[in-house]
Amino acid sequence: MYVSTLDLINFRNYSKLNINFNKSLNVFIGENAQGKTNILESIYFISTTKSHRTIKDRELIKWGSEKAYIGANVNRNSGKYLIESLIGNDNKVNFKLNGVKKNKYSDILGTLNTVIFSPEDLRLIKDGPAVRRRFIDGELNQIKPKYQYNLAQYNRALIQRNNILKSLKGSNSNRITAEIFGEQLAKYGSEICEERYNFIKKLSLVSRLIHRKITDGNEEIELIYECSTGDFKNKEYTRNQLLSYYTDSIDEDIRKGFTAKGPHRDDLMIKINGIDARAYGSQGQQRTAALSLKLSELEIIKSETLEYPVLLLDDVLSELDIKRQKFLLESLKDIQTFITCTSFSELNNLNFESKDIFLVHGGTLSKY
Ligand SMILES: Nc1ncnc2c1ncn2[C@@H]1O[C@H](COP(=O)(O)OP(=O)(O)OP(=O)(O)O)[C@@H](O)[C@H]1O
Ligand SMILES: [Mg+2]
Repeated sequence: MYVSTLDLINFRNYSKLNINFNKSLNVFIGENAQGKTNILESIYFISTTKSHRTIKDRELIKWGSEKAYIGANVNRNSGKYLIESLIGNDNKVNFKLNGVKKNKYSDILGTLNTVIFSPEDLRLIKDGPAVRRRFIDGELNQIKPKYQYNLAQYNRALIQRNNILKSLKGSNSNRITAEIFGEQLAKYGSEICEERYNFIKKLSLVSRLIHRKITDGNEEIELIYECSTGDFKNKEYTRNQLLSYYTDSIDEDIRKGFTAKGPHRDDLMIKINGIDARAYGSQGQQRTAALSLKLSELEIIKSETLEYPVLLLDDVLSELDIKRQKFLLESLKDIQTFITCTSFSELNNLNFESKDIFLVHGGTLSKY
């Protein structure tokens, strides 16, 4: 699949933009703060209904404007699609698919699949569990239509249970309501756990092969789902486990003032040659493992949707050594890729037959 055109009106620092993209490689070159990441962000937004940088959609609107518009034409094996989004300064976002208004985000998700890779992703192994959960959730949102719904329901119930826990300090009045939210958390939580478990199992297999290639067979990577309430066996088992946790832990959680366990505390264990790379991996090992996971994400989307997603590479080339850069670029032959960089010297290893280079300056693009 590929994005053939992009239209922006009052999006970030772009007043008006209309561009056609290359099916293969598109490079955005410009100095800092000119609008390179903003372009990738708009493509990511139309794909996932979210920004990768902010949860406040209003920030995407050009300062002083009331609305932002993003429109993208997407070509897939199954046909052509026009995805449009209008973002209002009341944080309301409307989406249209081929001119028809869509009320549910799940009707848009999956029309354009993207994988974004930025310097923060290189810290996927090193940083805390929240980053790894975001990685897993971001992927599952795109390939499993019900996942985002289940996650949203879970998060809503979690906020409500936490509010009740705080209000319950010293009184018993709302215990039953807390239990009701516990049931909802167990219901949606077990759906989430099941998808995470299946995804990580697959990710482990795919990344093992990729990681062997990047490390010339010197390293074996293994991924294990760390479900916060105990090993995952099956959905029903986890649902019961979560339910007993939310029931038994009410007193302790009231004391803490929050829900201490559940899918919102899950993690992904990454072992390299049998050792926990989160704690003991060298910086190089951690970066290579992050690269393996990101490349595996492309393969998993391909296996689920039968097409490669679009890849957004934000400033990562300069962060990788020559060997890893070459490996990455060689993996991209059949994938539409958008790359941002600040200088032409970063492009030395890009031996693509077809590419378009755009110069980015103060919210304008010109073809090089
Ligand atoms: N809502 C907005 N309205 C207008 N301008 C904005 C808005 N949000 C961000 N900007 C501006 O956009 C620019 C940042 O764009 P972007 O993050 O795309 O830069 P970049 O080219 O990727 O830079 P770097 O190389 O540092 O990553 C900044 O100048 C910022 O002030
Ligand atoms: Mg940037």
